[in-house]
Amino acid sequence: MAASSPQTTAPRAGAPFEHATEPANERAAEPANERAAGPANERAAGARSAGEPVNEPRLDFAGLTPYDEYVKASTLHRLQQPRSADPGEMAFLVTTQVMELWFGLLVYEWHTACGALAEDRLDDALASLRRSVAELRALAASWTPVSSLTPAQFNAYRSALGEASGFQSAAYREMEFLLGEKSASLLQPHADAPHAYAQLEQALHAPSLYDTVLDFLHRRGFDVPREVLDRDLSQRYEPHPGVEAVWVRIYTTGDEPLVQLGEVLTDIAELFGRWRTDHLMATRRAMGAKRGTGGSSGVAWLEKRAARLVFPELWTARGHV
Ligand code: HEM
Repeated sequence: MAASSPQTTAPRAGAPFEHATEPANERAAEPANERAAGPANERAAGARSAGEPVNEPRLDFAGLTPYDEYVKASTLHRLQQPRSADPGEMAFLVTTQVMELWFGLLVYEWHTACGALAEDRLDDALASLRRSVAELRALAASWTPVSSLTPAQFNAYRSALGEASGFQSAAYREMEFLLGEKSASLLQPHADAPHAYAQLEQALHAPSLYDTVLDFLHRRGFDVPREVLDRDLSQRYEPHPGVEAVWVRIYTTGDEPLVQLGEVLTDIAELFGRWRTDHLMATRRAMGAKRGTGGSSGVAWLEKRAARLVFPELWTARGHV
């Protein structure tokens, strides 16, 4: 995912509305609450001193507003194409799209963290990882609109989904790969989608976030076992007692920035596990033990997935500190 560089918008000399008298259309465009605001409210706002002019937002734009050019809001709002007449489908579709955006952002943050760790920039890595924790909390909150659907409510549009399932989300799969849950067979649904396939194949063979952390700890002088450092990166990460011993040492000696690294990774593991559990519960409520639209046995398959925790030694090490 490419990040665009931030642009600063400096106030422009001679911009409209920087004059004392207001044209009628500016007055009409003023939000009602601001129109009612008298001097007392202005004082309460505490930001302006007496006599300072109140500048109104700019109203005249040729073409798209700068907001739309930046946020692409008009494009975003054209991306909802419900397939049934049921009014509840829109909430399901938008919730799913919102979660897709969070998945993409999490992948971006974890890639950024990996880049920083590979260059031994721990503070920068911690900043990305901490942002990702906040984003995982926002992702969890996104469940609300669909977390308690009744089977009748879900049935009202379920057939319109056809075989579509979140199981086919390439961004979600890349998240899992970055967390060490690699699986070559899960590339298969994307075999005819060259861009998604190439990205996932690259992620399958690249070091996960956890692999990158272990390499970093090795460079910091910790005794990460050779077979872990040289492992086949395309395989699911399996716990190793030597790695557990590394985390035990970090937590026992209170090596502060590294304890913080361990803790932010633990937050990520916990919140990712919680996403899986929330998904399982939402599914259980909406469809009981029916088969999934993606063809799995549904709840039983999701239960198996939800039982797994990522970054395993960060959990087991706690029993030895
Ligand atoms: C209450 C509504 C939902 C139900 C009933 C539901 C049901 C299911 C089921 C049964 C599966 C297993 C695969 C299959 O056979 O389809 C699945 C997988 C999945 N769903 Fe949902 N889902 C719901 C909402 C969502 C939402 C809003 C998202 C957000 C993107 C989502 C993302 C996923 C993902 C990523 C997987 C794959 C999980 C994995 O590989 O471990 N689901 N879903």
